[in-house]
Amino acid sequence: KALKLVVTGGAGYVGSVCTARLVEAGHEVVVVDDLSTGHADAVHPAARFVEGDAAETAETLLAEGFDGVLHFAAKSLVGESMQDPGKYWRGNVLTSLRLLDAMRAHGTPRLVFSSTAATYGEPEQSPIPETAPTLPTNTYGATKLAIDHAITTYARAHGLAAVSLRYFNVAGAYGGFGERHATETHLIPIVLQVATGDRDQVQIYGEDYPTDDGTAVRDYIHVADLADAHLLALEHATAGEHQIYNLGNGTGFSVRQVIEACRGVTGHPIPAAVAPRRAGDPAVLVAASDRAREDLGWKPERADLAGIVSDAWAFTQTRRG
Ligand code: UFG
Repeated sequence: KALKLVVTGGAGYVGSVCTARLVEAGHEVVVVDDLSTGHADAVHPAARFVEGDAAETAETLLAEGFDGVLHFAAKSLVGESMQDPGKYWRGNVLTSLRLLDAMRAHGTPRLVFSSTAATYGEPEQSPIPETAPTLPTNTYGATKLAIDHAITTYARAHGLAAVSLRYFNVAGAYGGFGERHATETHLIPIVLQVATGDRDQVQIYGEDYPTDDGTAVRDYIHVADLADAHLLALEHATAGEHQIYNLGNGTGFSVRQVIEACRGVTGHPIPAAVAPRRAGDPAVLVAASDRAREDLGWKPERADLAGIVSDAWAFTQTRRG
């Protein structure tokens, strides 16, 4: 059944790809984005675009009657969240609370929320299941966890059908939509900037982690696989329940392995230099996503790292061309 949906943050990286997949699946999408980090030309042409703050816009827009909200709009720089926590508590928690209240006021039944692996902090076990303790090590993760808690109670009290998806390391591109941040902190786009000549070398943040090659290990998930989980979450959302799912491939790759994959895809030597660890970075973050597989019937189709990098590379090149 075609749904009428609001997508906050639909001009951003993950939001733009999800909008594309939703539109392709026949859903009617209104994108709300304040363009603080997103790009107007990243909004899928088949979606209606309203420029503005997610909460403020939702407070009036939802009166039109919608089947659900996918809430991507957020501040998401871990380093900045430690320097300017208020920006994250207001921008993430306050905005989400207002959105929840607006959904309640207008009877919007479904919510899919972008949560994060950062809610777990430094994990005690690997891969990480949803039952793992949530002890975030940075403000960004703490704000996303606070919102998850709020959603749980709103679902129970008010009958909201809610799903939180905890993303691990999202990468790749889809349908002409990809990652392009003014402040880039993510490993794969940074490494690809060396291949395009926009950067001289990549810095490896720490080579003394307790991993096979000493560099940090992450679970890279293709943004289109991630988007597919959102479509399944919409279908499986149940009134009065808040379901939480990790989204990752269950396989970790080290910083050095990622750089090597980028060398293979681009044919560029990509010089790398070892630098100190980045504050707050866990050694290993790998997802146990069995719950999403079992409950949602989700199955990542693009788990191969070279494939993920190659899609990111194609996007980087078209953006330059
Ligand atoms: N790294 C480098 N050099 C760089 C950039 C990154 O060595 O120039 C390393 C990081 O130290 C880390 C790994 O590459 O070990 C991945 O770093 P990213 O910044 O790409 O991603 P993170 O794992 O730090 O964080 C990402 C999102 C967060 C989210 C987290 C959850 O940015 O929002 O995944 O796993 F919380």
